[in-house]
Amino acid sequence: MANGITGCAITSWATALPEQIVTNFDIMTLFDTSDQWIVERTGIRQRRAADGPFVHPAPSGSPEGGMGTTAKLATRAASSALEKAGLTGREVDLLLLCTTSSDQLVPATSSPVAHALSIRGGAMDINAACAGFTYGLITAASFIGAGAERVLVVGAETLSRITNWHDRTNAFLFGDAAGAVLVEAVPGDTSLLGWDIGVDGSLVELCYADHGGTGMAMRGQEVFRRAVRITVESASKSLERAKVGPSDIALFVPHQANSRIMSAIAERLGIPGERTASVIEETGNTSSASIPLALAAAADAGRLTPGDLVLFAGFGAGMTWGSAVWRWTGARAS
Ligand code: COA
Repeated sequence: MANGITGCAITSWATALPEQIVTNFDIMTLFDTSDQWIVERTGIRQRRAADGPFVHPAPSGSPEGGMGTTAKLATRAASSALEKAGLTGREVDLLLLCTTSSDQLVPATSSPVAHALSIRGGAMDINAACAGFTYGLITAASFIGAGAERVLVVGAETLSRITNWHDRTNAFLFGDAAGAVLVEAVPGDTSLLGWDIGVDGSLVELCYADHGGTGMAMRGQEVFRRAVRITVESASKSLERAKVGPSDIALFVPHQANSRIMSAIAERLGIPGERTASVIEETGNTSSASIPLALAAAADAGRLTPGDLVLFAGFGAGMTWGSAVWRWTGARAS
């Protein structure tokens, strides 16, 4: 417990991707589509997949044997983040695994990940679909405020297992990945300056996948329309609560759903493209993993300096949404 310390900071980050690249040209072998159509509509050129028609099963007895695919990706990203911070899982109070593609119904995927990382502090999954990571970050800051010292927030997905690879209306959107951030208690003020979360459960039918069903079903145009409106409203609330404006934001990190949605949101918020983080071209929509992937890419490219304000905003099936204004502090001196 970090007695008397109320500040929190992201002090380490890392990502993990499956090896298999699936290009739009690969997708063209599955149904009638084109690279040009997918790029124009979504900005996506390729994605990574751990499962599906382009992945051959790993030989039995592989080193990670027995572990599910979401857990494997989560473990890789989380262990790199810990290693970069010079820490082990024993020093983590809580693991929050944000995922909409858990490996099993029971137990939570966070349990095998915690085991692999030697985390005994506590572990749970958060399923808020593509808004999952924003929910996780806000939850982490809350736990730090309540006295936890270190919370590991991981967004990890194997959407390739719940994609209907023959559905030409959405199969080209999704990818697999994991991204992890370490949130630590630090002296001083909190880095979470303003936040907002929400849900409209009357919109379940817009995007869903049933147990034992054929995979993801989506009403694309309706999702598009509502996602833009809801995310702009949520991000505006977070900015207002943080008492800052769009011009104060050094980096906007939206959920990487689709480049057209991302730029429509940024434009309505008044944040220029050069201050928006994007990895969509290479990863597709990786749901809970997409925000930490885009954050890590921007941080690794030197696009953030301590003191910068970052605006996170996600939306997803449910529909859920979440946003946060966060003060960037930089990597932990390990
Ligand atoms: N390849 C080529 N053409 C396709 C196609 C494909 N994979 N899928 C559909 N089409 C065709 C349709 O048949 C239709 O043809 P028609 O005009 O001759 O009837 C045309 O493209 C337009 O179809 P539509 O469904 O209106 O496409 P769209 O412009 O809405 O684009 C999405 C589809 C999915 C790219 C878009 O709706 C979208 O991005 N939605 C948001 C999805 C999202 O981000 N979800 C995740 C939220 S977390």
